[in-house]
Amino acid sequence: MKYRLLFVCLGNICRSPSAENIMNHLVEQRELCDTISCDSAGTANYHMGSPPDRRMAASLKKRGFSDHGKARQFTPWDFRNFDLILVMDRSNLEDVLAYDPRGEYTEKVKLLCEFAKYHSLQEVPDPYYGGPDGFEKVVDLLQDACAGLLEYLQQCGRIK
Ligand code: 4NP
Repeated sequence: MKYRLLFVCLGNICRSPSAENIMNHLVEQRELCDTISCDSAGTANYHMGSPPDRRMAASLKKRGFSDHGKARQFTPWDFRNFDLILVMDRSNLEDVLAYDPRGEYTEKVKLLCEFAKYHSLQEVPDPYYGGPDGFEKVVDLLQDACAGLLEYLQQCGRIK
């Protein structure tokens, strides 16, 4: 059984699909495809079915990452279907935890930035209404946090 990661943001067209593509890249690079699987979702339904935002896709491609994705909304089933749910900001955290009023899955939900080694930001900033710089910064931060997450999963024995 693979270890299943779900990345969550608001729209599922900028931050979380980027995290998914970046993590998949690291997983392939380290030959961990049989060990880890990744998906992403948004807490909102505004962009359901859409591919990643064009500006986000451009920043990903510039660094050699793929830009796959088709936006979907987070559902409470995701608590059972994934081992770890990584949210981009505190608002996502609150929205996801609102689907779990009994607190059964609190331990499965974490801020992705907790795993960044070289960035001290605690949230992945929403780039949607900002300029191109914001998208570049998201990729920088996600590369750091995804690498840190992978290292954490290996060190704590969640994956071999
Ligand atoms: P994401 O970015 O949560 O990183 O996908 C956003 C995408 C769309 C909107 C906001 C943030 N929106 O307001 O439509």
